[in-house]
Amino acid sequence: MAIILGIESSCDETSASVCINGKVINNDIATQDIHEQYGGVVPELASREHQRNIVPIVSHVLENAQISLENLDGIAYTRGPGLLGALLVGSSFAKSMAQALNIPTIPVHHMKAHVLAHFIDDPKPQFPFICLTVSGGHTQLLLVKSATEMVILGQTKDDAVGEAFDKSAKLLGLPYPGGPMIDKLASKGDRNKFQFAKSDVPALDYSFSGIKTSILYFLRKEVKKNENFVEENLNDLAASIQFTLIEMLMFKLKLAAKQEGINQIAIAGGVSANLGLRKRLTEEANKSDWEIFIPDFQYCTDNAGMIAISGHFLYENQQFGLLTDSPLPRMPF
Ligand SMILES: Nc1ncnc2c1ncn2[C@@H]1O[C@H](COP(=O)(O)OP(=O)(O)OP(=O)(O)O)[C@@H](O)[C@H]1O
Ligand SMILES: [Mg+2]
Repeated sequence: MAIILGIESSCDETSASVCINGKVINNDIATQDIHEQYGGVVPELASREHQRNIVPIVSHVLENAQISLENLDGIAYTRGPGLLGALLVGSSFAKSMAQALNIPTIPVHHMKAHVLAHFIDDPKPQFPFICLTVSGGHTQLLLVKSATEMVILGQTKDDAVGEAFDKSAKLLGLPYPGGPMIDKLASKGDRNKFQFAKSDVPALDYSFSGIKTSILYFLRKEVKKNENFVEENLNDLAASIQFTLIEMLMFKLKLAAKQEGINQIAIAGGVSANLGLRKRLTEEANKSDWEIFIPDFQYCTDNAGMIAISGHFLYENQQFGLLTDSPLPRMPF
């Protein structure tokens, strides 16, 4: 049993969280709005924002949890994958603080942490379970054997599904990040109005780069005939694009469940906030007798709660870091 401080700084969210004896007490997130005007995350600006935010955020969660620095047993931080400059801020801060307090650091893999977010609140899945991790940079089908043992069953060969949401949104003229906007518009549209070619790759892997080209060509053709096509069909376009992406995700997820003979199914990562995906998963659960696990919205996108709970498990396993550990932008799984 231990008191762990978790720090997340892999992309454009600076976040801190305290986990006491396996219970996540709080989860403070400073989202960086500065990137919106550029239509995507600007790495150097992200690093500078992390530098500005990290001290107040950490102070606030410690105060909120009524934990003084001397009470901490370890500091968990995102070592990778992510943006190098952004990771550097969190990892340097965590290592310096751990050194000053003479406690261990606990380097955490960001994608594994997305999965372990399921152990913050009840109901918690039982091992082994399958997790579809869908985020801005990754799309992975995982066999989760334990908190520290996960096997990749399949993953995207090119774009992540979050990227497909964001790029499709851009084609529709929506602001960044477009995923949540597509979700909102889709709820008012007809998902069967337009059809887009679903690309396929063998086994349990995914490919999402073809679909955005298919959307691009379709829109070009239609806009030539009617320049107001996008505005006039925005809800139906969003619904049809979202439906296509969800069906692609579900197809391989069903295959994976069948292949592994597992009916405990979880989703994780930013795109698991998508209402259409949540609904479709619930439908499939009723049909296929799955027990499903969907994270609370605050634990879908990047957050330190998932880093703190990962720190808790790794601390129990005595998996500590070294002062010489450098951030790993492409950290192996
Ligand atoms: N409701 C939603 N519907 C669809 N997509 C969404 C929704 N909410 C967030 N997203 C998408 O989730 C992604 C962000 O998720 P997350 O923060 O987990 O990704 P990341 O940290 O950038 O990438 P990674 O975790 O792979 O390093 C973005 O692509 C965003 O558009
Ligand atoms: Mg993430």
